Amino acid sequence: MKFFFIFFIFLFSLLIQSCYSDNTILRRQSLKDGDVIFSEGKRFAFGFFSLGNSKLRYVGIWYAQVSEQTVVWVANRDHPINDTSGLIKFSTRGNLCVYASGNGTEPIWSTDVIDMIQEPALVAKLTDLGNLVLLDPVTGKSFWESFNHPTNTLLPFMKLGFTRQNGVDRIMTSWRSPGDPGSGNITYRIERRGFPQMMMYKGLTLWWRTGSWTGQRWSGVPEMTNKFIFNISFVSNPDEVSITYGVFDASVITRMVLNETGTLQRFRWNGRDKKWIGFWSAPEDKCDIYNHCGFNGYCDPTSTDKFECSCLPGYEPKTPRDWFLRDASDGCTRIKAASICNGKEGFAKLKRVKIPNTSAVNVDMNITLKECEQRCLKNCSCVAYASAYHESENGAKGCLTWHGNMLDTRTYLSSGQDFYLRVDKSELVRWNGNGSSGKMRLFLILISLLAVVMLLMISLFCFIRKRRQFKRLRKAPSSFAPCSFDLEDSFILEELEDKSRTRELPLFELSTIAAATNNFAFQNKLGAGGFGPVYKGVLQNGMEIAVKRLSKSSGQGMEEFKNEVKLISKLQHRNLVRILGCCVEFEEKMLVYEYLPNKSLDYFIFNDEHRVELDWPKRMGIIRGIARGILYLHQDSRLRIIHRDLKASNVLLDNEMIPKIADFGLARIFGGNQIEGSTNRVVGTYGYMSPEYAMDGQFSIKSDVYSFGVLILEIITGKKNSAFYEESLNLVKHIWDRWEKGEAIEIIDKLMSEDTYDVSEVMKCLHIGLLCVQENASDRPDMSSVVFMLGHNAIDLPSPKHPAFTAGRRRNVKTGGSSDNWPSGETGSTINDVTLTDVQGR
Ligand SMILES: *[C@@H]1O[C@H](CO)[C@@H](O)[C@H](O)[C@H]1NC(C)=O
Ligand SMILES: *[C@@H]1O[C@H](CO)[C@@H](O)[C@H](O)[C@H]1NC(C)=O
Ligand SMILES: *[C@@H]1O[C@H](CO)[C@@H](O)[C@H](O)[C@H]1NC(C)=O
Ligand SMILES: *[C@@H]1O[C@H](CO)[C@@H](O)[C@H](O)[C@H]1NC(C)=O
Ligand SMILES: *[C@@H]1O[C@H](CO)[C@@H](O)[C@H](O)[C@H]1NC(C)=O
Ligand SMILES: *[C@@H]1O[C@H](CO)[C@@H](O)[C@H](O)[C@H]1NC(C)=O
Ligand SMILES: *[C@@H]1O[C@H](CO)[C@@H](O)[C@H](O)[C@H]1NC(C)=O
Ligand SMILES: *[C@@H]1O[C@H](CO)[C@@H](O)[C@H](O)[C@H]1NC(C)=O
Repeated sequence: MKFFFIFFIFLFSLLIQSCYSDNTILRRQSLKDGDVIFSEGKRFAFGFFSLGNSKLRYVGIWYAQVSEQTVVWVANRDHPINDTSGLIKFSTRGNLCVYASGNGTEPIWSTDVIDMIQEPALVAKLTDLGNLVLLDPVTGKSFWESFNHPTNTLLPFMKLGFTRQNGVDRIMTSWRSPGDPGSGNITYRIERRGFPQMMMYKGLTLWWRTGSWTGQRWSGVPEMTNKFIFNISFVSNPDEVSITYGVFDASVITRMVLNETGTLQRFRWNGRDKKWIGFWSAPEDKCDIYNHCGFNGYCDPTSTDKFECSCLPGYEPKTPRDWFLRDASDGCTRIKAASICNGKEGFAKLKRVKIPNTSAVNVDMNITLKECEQRCLKNCSCVAYASAYHESENGAKGCLTWHGNMLDTRTYLSSGQDFYLRVDKSELVRWNGNGSSGKMRLFLILISLLAVVMLLMISLFCFIRKRRQFKRLRKAPSSFAPCSFDLEDSFILEELEDKSRTRELPLFELSTIAAATNNFAFQNKLGAGGFGPVYKGVLQNGMEIAVKRLSKSSGQGMEEFKNEVKLISKLQHRNLVRILGCCVEFEEKMLVYEYLPNKSLDYFIFNDEHRVELDWPKRMGIIRGIARGILYLHQDSRLRIIHRDLKASNVLLDNEMIPKIADFGLARIFGGNQIEGSTNRVVGTYGYMSPEYAMDGQFSIKSDVYSFGVLILEIITGKKNSAFYEESLNLVKHIWDRWEKGEAIEIIDKLMSEDTYDVSEVMKCLHIGLLCVQENASDRPDMSSVVFMLGHNAIDLPSPKHPAFTAGRRRNVKTGGSSDNWPSGETGSTINDVTLTDVQGR
């Protein structure tokens, strides 16, 4: 009896072992939640698991020999089970399936192999590499492997890549978040087109590429050397392109993870400290980001203080102004004068390079590098070449040639490969100048020293002469004679740093501008802008310009000048004034704009004679245009910009009365989602400032909306907001009083001929204006709603709430200085021409 009992226990324990601690699942067996199978050497485990505090159950593989939960593969990543009633078993056809409950008929996940019913001996086995294999244990034939369906982790000996015959493509796909193994939108794969390289995508956007395989490593992963722990085998033949990272020492525990934010990380388990150590990741720096420097640009991360992007030899920035602002996305084009197909061209050699995108290169693996050069020379469309692979560190072989634009080139401090660019003769001389022999170099150094000394002397001479001329210019403007060279102390050059781009700047010479404006003649003065007088000018080619001249010795004006240069050159919109360039010489700082013949909006609407010209369709066009301009600033441009000083005198009108917003001296740039800011220095124009800004220095897109509302009301009535108006304190209050009494119709400008407008349309516009000037910033609509409301007739507008009357509280305005600075000589009609800045700074 006792013996039988012991025998029974023994048999039972054997059974349990064969069921659960074995490394295989037999075809008739099933695995409940809680059951786990281990690989032979107990390195990996397979079964149900949850992540963090989540109750969701997943089926997958994790490290069994590592104390930290580290999942390396998930079967039902997109279909978690809500409770612990899940079951793993074979379907009748022989696929391994995961079911949400024991009696469920439809599996939530399956190995999906067709035609397996004939394999009665089929088992699922977890190997010591972490691979779950469906195989016939007799013949050893495998039908399915988890290694062929990677998730976010690449284990040693796992393969990435594709075969052309049976369409297998092994790609890595990130998790959705650290707690959600569902399929994320980051993928990492071997590119199918062109010469093989690996690509990481964020959604559909290419984010990083390894560069092509050089025989030892990826062109763009210089850290991969033979000293590494990996035994890498790269296969590229007509049927298969793949890469496998084996390890030399099988006891090394390492994995590569594609994480949710688009980074590949390599970890190694440190058994002593019981933690994962990250020892490599990519992309690493700005230069790794795909196409960071645009077409035909290249990225050099060693230039720590300079802009990291440059153009490849023989190319120049497409839009110099953007490059000056450190935005290379437009890339580079071939220098215009250069001809690379007249028999005089040659090749400039770039060292330590990650070669450009190889998706569209021509490949010949059989010829030498010398033959490659000849081949490229013979074909005028060939712009560059490089070797295809290295047999050893120095044995370059094969030939890649580029025909067209080159994308995503970068350099490294060490490693990388040689890259040969076809350039014209002059560029070649320039390029090879550095590489000449010792004697030649000495000679060159001497020559250049001499040149520098001479240049310095000339500069000094010129400087002194110019000083004198400037003194003369102030006394007698007509005697002005320019001395043309760029001065080093200008802020433009500070910002520029890279001398080679000096010539690309939209810089005007002082002499040019002086000539255009008739030496800043009084007759040419158009008025005064935010930080100084504005002159009209005509360039030699007949083009009319407007020149804004920064008042001298004004510290604050300088800030605003810089601000405007930075901002406006980035913006392009039909309803924003266009900048043509700037001029910085000695103490002179000037901005050059397109000239707008019809002057500014205030010239029209606050003058009885001129206002008559503005019929309703024109006024409506102006209102719409301004609204679109502001909308562009607020959300449609690459930056979010709050203008902070919208007023009638800052709206210029062109020939066709199209409004253009000007004067960005006070504008603020905001990051993507930021919509509000605050300042201690309240600047702006009285009458247009929203109460929260005037009182508390809080500005937001809604303060611009307020100013815009005031503009609408002024355009409809032809009156200045800040002007005292009958018994009411200002226009907004006056209009509000009439609106409440139902008499708003009376405030429509009497000078606007009645037959040009439809009262209901004007009233709708007025209504929108009142919505914009509501006291509470959150009640005011944003510009996209305003544009929508202006464009649609049959919509119901909300009733406006009580507006704000800034003027009524003006004595309380907190400005940077004390409120005693408030202009004292104000008279009814001129108040709103005064900008607080002017009051404080000068
Ligand atoms: C889990 O619950 C969610 C929502 O309650 C349901 O949509 C989903 O179908 C459930 N999943 C399973 C496998 O039952
Ligand atoms: C499955 O079984 C559960 C309990 O075991 C039962 O509540 C459920 O109704 C069954 N579902 C079906 C489709 O038979
Ligand atoms: C990728 O997914 C994340 C979160 O699921 C999302 O925030 C992001 O916008 C997505 N990116 C793309 C390019 O689809
Ligand atoms: C490296 O990998 C190759 C091919 O996979 C194999 O033949 C070789 O034996 C491996 N070397 C070592 C040291 O593991
Ligand atoms: C992805 O990896 C990078 C680099 O190690 C890291 O900065 C980032 O936080 C990681 N993202 C997640 C979601 O873990
Ligand atoms: C670079 O590679 C990507 C991905 O293959 C491709 O879409 C793009 O057109 C390539 N660009 C060039 C210039 O070859
Ligand atoms: C390249 O060389 C190999 C062997 O040397 C040969 O089999 C192959 O046909 C050659 N390919 C071309 C395009 O010449
Ligand atoms: C030059 O190369 C291009 C691209 O490979 C090819 O289409 C063209 O036929 C070649 N021209 C000549 C003259 O070989």
